[in-house]
Amino acid sequence: MSTTSTRPGTAHGRTGATAVHPLVADRWSPRAFDAAPLPDAEVVSLLEAARWAPSAMNAQPWRFLVGRTTEDGPDATHTGLLGTLAPPNRAWAHRAPVLVAALTRVVEDDGSARAVGPYELGLAVAQLTVQAESLGLHVHQIGGFDAEAVVDAFEVPVGYRPVAVLAVGRLGDAAGLPGWARAREGAARSRLGLEELAFAGRFGQAFDGLGSEDAGSAAA
Ligand SMILES: Cc1cc2nc3c(=O)[nH]c(=O)nc-3n(C[C@H](O)[C@H](O)[C@H](O)COP(=O)(O)O)c2cc1C
Repeated sequence: MSTTSTRPGTAHGRTGATAVHPLVADRWSPRAFDAAPLPDAEVVSLLEAARWAPSAMNAQPWRFLVGRTTEDGPDATHTGLLGTLAPPNRAWAHRAPVLVAALTRVVEDDGSARAVGPYELGLAVAQLTVQAESLGLHVHQIGGFDAEAVVDAFEVPVGYRPVAVLAVGRLGDAAGLPGWARAREGAARSRLGLEELAFAGRFGQAFDGLGSEDAGSAAA
């Protein structure tokens, strides 16, 4: 059975029967960003959080291209990344004061594939996202972008692949969004039930700890 939660600011914080930390429970992906520039310290804090992620053999394969809006307007990296987004994403992401392309190494110097590169990048971005939440910021990840255009525009070396663009900022006024995006801002969030994704014994057989007293006692 899937779980649905309502928009942040309500009782949404407990995303299921079991409590999770508010930094995780309260995270969501808005489209209404406040265009005000973010202080350097906040941007660096996000990148620091990503930097300390674990990686196989501590290879740290993640790389980030950071575009920002300043008091003078968007810098060249922000403008360049925005141009690589699919039009529906561009329609709201232009207001995010920070756009970050998240890249990872997928081919080693010896030509072998680095299969865990996207996994490692995902860990780093997850840490960045939790750090953002702790600062009152939001991250909306975007897969709808032209990775080849990022490679070309930013001279990305062979072996690295842009995987996502992150829109980062504070929550803004949804009134400025296109209608379809505004409608999604208030939509309930939903997830698969744990029994659909946590197994034991064989794939597809629900992990039998899910219905236990212990799990219930952690309920919010
Ligand atoms: C790798 C990845 C790619 C995504 N691509 C897009 C995208 O192109 N456009 C978009 O609006 N949201 C995108 N999202 C956001 C998801 O739609 C969102 O995380 C999901 O619906 C769950 O909502 P929540 O983050 O508010 O819990 C992406 C998320 C991830 C992790």
